[in-house]
Amino acid sequence: MLYAFELSGEHEQLPAAEALACLETVGLEFVTHAFFEQCLVVDIRGRKETVEEILRGRVTERLAMTHHILKVVGITESRPEEILRFAENFDPEDFIREGESFVVRAKRIGKHVDYPCEPLEKKIGGYIYRKGFRAKLKAPDVSFRLILSERTVFGVLLSSVDRSDYEARTPQNKPFFHPGVLMPRVARALVNIARTKAGDLFLDPFCGTGGILVEAGLLKARVLGIDAQEKLVLGARINLKAFGADYVLLEGDACRVPLKAETVDAVVTDPPYGRSAAILAESLEKLYAGAFMEIYRVLKPGGLAVVVSDKPAYEYGEKAGLEVLDIYAQRVHRSLTRTITVFRKLR
Ligand SMILES: C[S@@+](CC[C@H](N)C(=O)[O-])C[C@H]1O[C@@H](n2cnc3c(N)ncnc32)[C@H](O)[C@@H]1O
Repeated sequence: MLYAFELSGEHEQLPAAEALACLETVGLEFVTHAFFEQCLVVDIRGRKETVEEILRGRVTERLAMTHHILKVVGITESRPEEILRFAENFDPEDFIREGESFVVRAKRIGKHVDYPCEPLEKKIGGYIYRKGFRAKLKAPDVSFRLILSERTVFGVLLSSVDRSDYEARTPQNKPFFHPGVLMPRVARALVNIARTKAGDLFLDPFCGTGGILVEAGLLKARVLGIDAQEKLVLGARINLKAFGADYVLLEGDACRVPLKAETVDAVVTDPPYGRSAAILAESLEKLYAGAFMEIYRVLKPGGLAVVVSDKPAYEYGEKAGLEVLDIYAQRVHRSLTRTITVFRKLR
């Protein structure tokens, strides 16, 4: 069965990478079918009811950079006559039961179409209405959705991600605030990309106020944070407590992690850039080299580490023995573009 992830436009690749990582983490068997701007279509194998329960539950709860998950009805060209031809000929009975109400909603992505959505929604609504179903704009039983991107994905809404939870956890809204923190949606996406699972031992060796740890903690990982500044460790404790995380925090040095080798399942970290955040090391070079050696040592074989930096970090990781899987650039503002590097420790 084909399913579509209607992705947020906050980054070109991270939302799709996060969605694919979540499917892998929950153990679904899938292949990518198509990737359009803000829309990823995957072919998922398995019993339909089980797959949809997992998508609606565990996958939706984890995601930060997806708006909606749809069950795909069809994929067409984005010209209105093609979309209407498809909509007129599909059989709604495969997606909506007798007596149920429906709505049709369309979303234009980027500059792929230059016509308004409303007439399209109305016409398609009319086709479905004439086949004997009841239209209802508010709280309908079934929502048909069109994602108008390079191609148009026509689907039925399976679930929506409640992104307001992430807004509620913005750094300023947490009990302890200190500037220079990743936004929770970005932190959650990176925790997902690191394939963090419930019960995993998760490490952030430059934890600051604990923003990344909070996101991993909400996914029920056991989180361990280290920071060189006592006041931030105390602040991180306040934040982690507030979100009910299972945590251990240490004031210490990322270059000397007090853990045995191969004990950590996943690492996500945002080391200091040497701009405003304090560094406890002779130089930024030595700090990165030492921290990567430790990340390599404590990671379990096959484990992933995601590192955010303001300059390329892949060489430090490679020197320490890690394999580079992906590198993403994320523009924050005119003078800061973050590099997000995904590493794996080989088995
Ligand atoms: C960019 S901030 C991390 C922000 C963090 N993600 C948060 O949610 O607040 C980098 C952190 O590295 C810490 N740091 C600097 N040198 C360190 C070292 N040698 N070992 C551990 N932490 C260090 C700083 O105190 C700072 O809190």
